[in-house]
Amino acid sequence: MTDNFYTKLKKYNEKGYSSFHTPGHKYGDFLPNDLLKLDLTELPDTDALFEADGIIKELEKAFSDIYGTTASFISAGGCSLSIQAMIRTALDCGGKLLCARNAHRSAVNSMALLGIDPVWIYPQGSGHYTGRILPDDVSRALEENPDIRSLYITSPTYYGEISDIETIADICHKHDAVLLVDNAHGSHLAFMEDNIHPIRLGADMTACSLHKTMPVMTGGALLNVRTQELSENAKSYMSLFASTSPSYVIMSSMSLCADYIKNGSAMDDYRQCEIKVQKLRTAALQNNIPLPDGLCDPLRLTLNTAAAGIYGEDNQQVFFHQHKIECEFCDGENAVLLFTPFNREEDYERVNAAVGHLKCSSTNKQKIYSCVRPEKAVSIREAMLSPSEIISTDKSIGRIAADTACPCPPGVPVIMPGEIINKDIIHELNRFGIDRIKVKK
Ligand SMILES: Cc1ncc(COP(=O)(O)O)c(C=O)c1O
Repeated sequence: MTDNFYTKLKKYNEKGYSSFHTPGHKYGDFLPNDLLKLDLTELPDTDALFEADGIIKELEKAFSDIYGTTASFISAGGCSLSIQAMIRTALDCGGKLLCARNAHRSAVNSMALLGIDPVWIYPQGSGHYTGRILPDDVSRALEENPDIRSLYITSPTYYGEISDIETIADICHKHDAVLLVDNAHGSHLAFMEDNIHPIRLGADMTACSLHKTMPVMTGGALLNVRTQELSENAKSYMSLFASTSPSYVIMSSMSLCADYIKNGSAMDDYRQCEIKVQKLRTAALQNNIPLPDGLCDPLRLTLNTAAAGIYGEDNQQVFFHQHKIECEFCDGENAVLLFTPFNREEDYERVNAAVGHLKCSSTNKQKIYSCVRPEKAVSIREAMLSPSEIISTDKSIGRIAADTACPCPPGVPVIMPGEIINKDIIHELNRFGIDRIKVKK
């Protein structure tokens, strides 16, 4: 019999790599074997996601208690759905959003559908997808744009950098603006030694990919809402973008996760995991491997392998596969590894061994990110919804991008729809192997 998708995935699993990527349950051990039997649908006894008044409502209440929100809404369509609903909840059609330039493409898609125009705010000292948003830049941008009432940022970033949410939230509130945080990578931050979940620090809404860092099946996410006012319409905006057939298997895994947090050992487990990752971080620093500075996600290890002479995604992958490690993401110079309590002891041993082989003579990090700021020609909506064609990236100079062009992960656009492609952009796209691009006709 020839291999199909299913058998190929099984063969992949047989390779026995340690999982340092999503989902947070890692090997499925947390999930019961009979979970598939709960692949049900909306029935009188099973509640309905978008008219929840039974067991789904109870589950949403459980998450609301866990995260200290006014309301938490379930998504079985990933954090992308939470992000789309979050933006719609904060802004009406045609609104203006102060938006960190390293936004995930789901935010950009949402802006196209809703006709929202971003005013970009650039992360500190970086290029497309990494870096923190600085409070001073937020203050300046809100002063320069007094009509803006919403700020959207990503924290933690794919590389784990965390922005100063508390100060940024204060600034937003002084300007009568709401703070929306793409916290896709930070659902677990509430269970760290210090609770640094953005909701606790004053964010008004957060989109959280539970499945990335908690023991939840892929697709399970939340929209967390801190204030009563914003919570009123959020549910109906979730349904605006969502399937009418949410997966009960995913929602069941979310229920098990809520129980693990409320009644199980989640707090202890996540703190133990934090200590173990900290040991690996210390080992990396002893070998002079550059790590991101400042406040970072405690459960994410971003190793600058380039400083140890391992460049290029293929070489990085060969190196990590030799150590039986599958990373979340290699960008050619950095490798990002995600840990949860569901990693096994041997996983830590493998990373320790890999770190031992990464010897750097100095801590000089290779600077790879150039900050390309292309010129805008038309709105995101016009660019994405007008007639378009796909052409060779090398021939696209001067054309207007009609889609987000991005390596995925991390799903952060190199160029935004509506911007004019220049030679620096082409260089960046080539670097990521993106050789075709959609442009406006
Ligand atoms: C920063 C960020 N936001 C949002 C998303 C979308 O999350 P999901 O895959 O759960 O839809 C991702 C996915 O990787 C992400 O990295």
